[in-house]
Amino acid sequence: SIPKYVKIVEVGPRDGLQNEKDIVPTAVKVELIHRLVSSGLSVVEATSFVSPKWVPQLADAKDVMQAVCNIEGARLPVLTPNLKVGSSGFASASESFSKSNVNCSIEESLARYGAVTRAAKELSIPVRGYVSCVVGCPVEGAIPPSKVAYVAKELYEMGCFEISLGDTIGVATPGTVVPMLEAVMAVVPVENLAVHFHDTYGQSLPNILVSLQMGISIVDTSISGLGGCPYAKGASGNVATEDVVYMLDGLGVKTNVDLAKLMKAGDFISKQLGRPSGSKTAIALCRV
Ligand code: HMG
Ligand code: MG
Repeated sequence: SIPKYVKIVEVGPRDGLQNEKDIVPTAVKVELIHRLVSSGLSVVEATSFVSPKWVPQLADAKDVMQAVCNIEGARLPVLTPNLKVGSSGFASASESFSKSNVNCSIEESLARYGAVTRAAKELSIPVRGYVSCVVGCPVEGAIPPSKVAYVAKELYEMGCFEISLGDTIGVATPGTVVPMLEAVMAVVPVENLAVHFHDTYGQSLPNILVSLQMGISIVDTSISGLGGCPYAKGASGNVATEDVVYMLDGLGVKTNVDLAKLMKAGDFISKQLGRPSGSKTAIALCRV
């Protein structure tokens, strides 16, 4: 059986936009966040506080947050790797990817997130942990499930309320997702786990379906399938929010998201970026 309700964590404004070469105006990012929240999404990852040299697209993080801080009805978390700012930390299950993405080893990154979670706790800010490369790494290839379980458990024990398991480069299939989730679910309660799939090989929907069948009820998605990690060459966008909502509607799973409004948000950002939507649902429903 699958969960009756699935919480969708929209990551488009952060994961989706972080890879865009042309700088998207702050006002467009702010309007996108407004439209996403209006469609019923309860969590929209708004931006990230990282080095503007590494991710120039999100150099306006402070301005974006100032403009959206009064939005009600949704949580708007931000990604942050260290204490330079102060709500999501990200670790990797791959040593080499950790080096290229956050410029330190897995152990060093865990120590940093320990500091982030401790500081956040004092301010009562909930911290979501990310584990990247949960199935495969662009440098190391296959990643053993035990390694993912180790990093996820560390993040859980340092106080992360939710841990998102990321297939950063989109190589997972249900065949690799199931053993990975089995290992992680043995050490972290399933209600604290989210799945985060990139759609490089078009496997996101089957991967999400098997995850739901295993009890996962939190899914990260990106409007119009925007995205890709700048340090994961060849990684394509995250699974499209519209496609996931369409599938969940079809399964009779509640999301509280209005697909028609969501499509308008997708249409808005696709037009701004000047390219067709990466969502098959959006393309199909446009024609009818
Ligand atoms: P560092 O340890 O300070 O060293 O930062 P560094 O040499 O990499 O960077 C140094 C510069 O970054 C310094 O500036 C710092 O002040 C600055 P400089 O002195 O050269 O002018 N800096 C910062 N600036 C703003 N905000 C900060 C911050 N921290 C340092 N918080 C660090 C290491 C990781 C912070 C840095 O390398 C960085 O920001 N990297 C970008 C990482 C990133 O954004 N990756 C993409 C997101 S992860 C992802 O997409 C995967 C995910 O979606 C899950 C999945 O798909 O699996 C989450
Ligand atoms: Mg990602």
